[in-house]
Amino acid sequence: MNKTYVMLKPDAVERRLVGEVISRIEKKGFTIEAMTMEVLTEEKAREHYSEHVEKPFFPELLEYITSGPVVGMVVSGPGVIQAMRTMLGATDPLEAEPGSIRGDFGYSKTMNLVHASDSGESASREIALYFTTDQICD
Ligand code: PPS
Repeated sequence: MNKTYVMLKPDAVERRLVGEVISRIEKKGFTIEAMTMEVLTEEKAREHYSEHVEKPFFPELLEYITSGPVVGMVVSGPGVIQAMRTMLGATDPLEAEPGSIRGDFGYSKTMNLVHASDSGESASREIALYFTTDQICD
């Protein structure tokens, strides 16, 4: 699997960091194969974060992730799943390395700017949730 799903969350859009994040992805040499901008419905957000719905932080996460538009992308390249997670940095921006996206710009575990799939299985599931095959230009 050389594709992953990347989402610029509502704080990235509101803070006008979309260009910054896309620039980092492109400078790394990865390819953006598809892109959408949408406000997530509660149903779609629950499906995306299905593994977290029982966690105590989920109500806050749900409110945040549906609070404004998100930009979703299919990104491809060698080792892209692991590489994007490294570029993002730790979930908690306070623990993320300087130089990583969350280390440089992230605010909290909820407002951490960007999501990227954590495995090939997640990437397949998430790409299928947001895109039809004919939307992906590969
Ligand atoms: S964990 O702790 O292992 O469940 O964390 P992780 O799998 O890395 O990601 C959890 C996603 O939920 C968002 N979120 C939070 N995580 C942990 N603690 C709190 N309080 C919290 N609030 C929200 C976090 O941003 C992760 O979102 P994604 O989009 O997957 O990065």
